[in-house]
Amino acid sequence: MTASEARSTDFDARAATYDHLRPVGDAWWTRFDAVVRLGELRGQRILDVGCGTGAVAAALVERAAAKVWGVEASAEMLAVARGRVPSGVGLKQGRAEQLPFRDAWFDRVVYSLVIHLVNRPVALAEAARVLVDGGRVVVATFAHEHFDRYWAGRFFPSLAAVDKARFPSEEALTAELAAAGFEDIRSEQLAARENVDRETALERLRGRHISTFDLLDPDEVERGVAQAERELLETVEIRLEQLIVTARRIAR
Ligand SMILES: C[S@@+](CC[C@H](N)C(=O)[O-])C[C@H]1O[C@@H](n2cnc3c(N)ncnc32)[C@H](O)[C@@H]1O
Repeated sequence: MTASEARSTDFDARAATYDHLRPVGDAWWTRFDAVVRLGELRGQRILDVGCGTGAVAAALVERAAAKVWGVEASAEMLAVARGRVPSGVGLKQGRAEQLPFRDAWFDRVVYSLVIHLVNRPVALAEAARVLVDGGRVVVATFAHEHFDRYWAGRFFPSLAAVDKARFPSEEALTAELAAAGFEDIRSEQLAARENVDRETALERLRGRHISTFDLLDPDEVERGVAQAERELLETVEIRLEQLIVTARRIAR
């Protein structure tokens, strides 16, 4: 086991700052719109797995007229979600690998920035179980190129390798979906750019805005933040290579 594999991510610790450090901006909406379109989510009965602070669940109700349940492992993330989602969204604490819902209960299952955190063979089998025949799973994640270009990568030498090891490539995810009983697998990659000012970028690093920081050596994180404080210019360009993959459950 490598040192990073021995460490684990902590979303309870991130809950209070998550929405501030990872705000809903243009790239977020680009991803959301693609998830709705490719997953054909409008008006459907949807399970949002690893719903976090509830931003996707809320938008699915407000913008896509969907009926939504969220399931989330972290009690603290779920508490933030409870304070933000519209009434009518059902929220439960639970894990992707053991969904607290009965068979064939949903038309769609969504994983937004979650698929790298779950035991995929077990979780995807659970998604197939709770989906109706012909229901779809939709995964929003990052393409592997993203990690080579990520703005913070130059400050943290292990970051790209740690993320490439935990995020599935498009090919791997396609194979995992097929093995779990899905067909008609479609992918779309979305390139987005956003500018943030230096202070916003530094605030994100100091707040360990992505869970990858939990998997790095704390000395590497401290050195990287100090380097960013010395080197970041007034404007930081953030490039995102987002990947959406959707697939249909094979009939029982
Ligand atoms: C990066 S956040 C994404 C949150 C939300 N889906 C979004 O797009 O903003 C990942 C979330 O997945 C949750 N999570 C991680 N592993 C999980 C699991 N096995 N089952 C359910 N939730 C999980 C974390 O607690 C965290 O809230």
